[in-house]
Amino acid sequence: MLAEHLQGQGYAYGDFPAHSSLWEMTDKTRHDILARMALVPRTMEARGLDVVPSLRDKLAQAGDKEAAAIMDIILRDEIGHVAIGNRWYGYLCAQRGLEPVETYASLAAEYAAPVLRGPFNLDARRAAGFSEPEFNLPPK
Ligand SMILES: [Fe+2]
Repeated sequence: MLAEHLQGQGYAYGDFPAHSSLWEMTDKTRHDILARMALVPRTMEARGLDVVPSLRDKLAQAGDKEAAAIMDIILRDEIGHVAIGNRWYGYLCAQRGLEPVETYASLAAEYAAPVLRGPFNLDARRAAGFSEPEFNLPPK
């Protein structure tokens, strides 16, 4: 979708600089599925839940309705990706007899994960299965 949209603007995917922090974390956690689930879907992709709405609004304000619509699809899909991470993270913690919230904190420190910083997209995070104690979410 993005590649096609860029093409319509006279650009191609790769024409603009982008960070690769998601892939760096994917590589760093390649030896442990628990660390992978904690830090790729539940941290890096979950960050997408927080930042996509404001990016979407900026694109819409700039008049790029097509790009804004693509962001809506990405946000919807990302909730599913993060939910998969939450599901398997919980499964792996139970299997290994680990407490999920403390384990997350120690993995985040061990792998130097980006520090969680608001504003959070609480509705999207809830929809993706984050529990109240994990992110100090107020009860709905
Ligand atoms: Fe994703």
